[in-house]
Amino acid sequence: MTDHTDIDTVSGTATTGHEWDGIKELNTPLPRWWVIAFYLTIIWSFGYWVVYPAWPLLSGNTPGILRYSSRADVAVELANLEKVRGEKMQALAAASLADIEKDPAMLALARARGKTVFGDNCAPCHGSGAAGAKGYPNLNDDDWLWGGSLDQIAQTIRFGARSGNAKQHEGQMLAFGKDGVLKPDQIVTVANYVRSLSGLPTRPTYDAAAGAKIFAENCAVCHGDNARGNQELGAPNLTDQIWLYGSDEATLIETIANGRAGVMPAWEGRLDPTTIKVMAVYVHSLGGGK
Ligand code: HEC
Ligand code: HEC
Repeated sequence: MTDHTDIDTVSGTATTGHEWDGIKELNTPLPRWWVIAFYLTIIWSFGYWVVYPAWPLLSGNTPGILRYSSRADVAVELANLEKVRGEKMQALAAASLADIEKDPAMLALARARGKTVFGDNCAPCHGSGAAGAKGYPNLNDDDWLWGGSLDQIAQTIRFGARSGNAKQHEGQMLAFGKDGVLKPDQIVTVANYVRSLSGLPTRPTYDAAAGAKIFAENCAVCHGDNARGNQELGAPNLTDQIWLYGSDEATLIETIANGRAGVMPAWEGRLDPTTIKVMAVYVHSLGGGK
């Protein structure tokens, strides 16, 4: 160990007093500019603490005299966005269904918003592309159970079908087998008759005249004499080769024997009136609207 105030003879600088194998450590002072900058940053930080949010408190933090908050910035931006959107939504709320469809700007807005709402609420049943599935109708085609005009679609969405809503679409496919109205062989015969309506092959033993008779006596009341369906009753067209449940003989027998009563929920009360309007326009614009 050497003396603390030992001065290095080559550089003329004091050493720290540490020495290893004859090599001494210089105690070079920090450059003045660096030291000044260092103290300036400390002074600067005091100003910063006062002006900006800085110190954590038990709940929250010191707000600073500028009361700056990035959260408040976001809130203001969101409020502005909501205002612009709100104005547009108000325009939609005030417009009639037909007017929305005629106005390209409103139609575009309705389609964009409709797509999002559809994904959140309707896609689980109707499919993300609205193409439907067994028991869930395709909303892209021009085949409608309950009618494809704007007003009819809006009505279906508002009140649903067999939904329990007071204004629901009612009417269902009866259970001809379960309720003992038709015997099993009559059901097979009329199932084959239904297949023949769409030009599908029938059993070799199938009696066309008997099938037509059973249909006229039991089915025409809802599906119509020509089997083209009845939208008042939600009875599908049986001649268009579009099937809600299926056209193979086994599925037809099941439909006729046990009946069907697909449930479309009522959206009134769950979606606001403007959104229901938007959904009607959206579904109508999917391609099959009348
Ligand atoms: C829980 C399943 C379910 C959900 C969710 C649902 N639907 Fe339906 N939807 C149905 C069923 C089932 C039918 C067919 C009812 C029938 O058999 O008469 C239907 C029928 C419809 C029809 C009538 C189609 C026609 O041919 O007349 C429209 C329009 C419709 N849905 C739109 C919507 C929209 C828009 C939404 C979302 C806001 C939605 N649905 C959500 C099950 C659903
Ligand atoms: C009281 C009215 C009513 C009567 C009578 C009736 N149907 Fe229906 N039928 C319906 C309704 C409503 C549906 C649609 C059910 C649904 O959407 O869930 C339907 C659906 C069907 C379907 C399903 C079509 C598909 O696309 O999958 C077939 C097939 C059918 N009916 C055949 C018959 C036959 C055959 C008879 C006579 C033996 C008959 N219906 C009598 C009302 C009726």
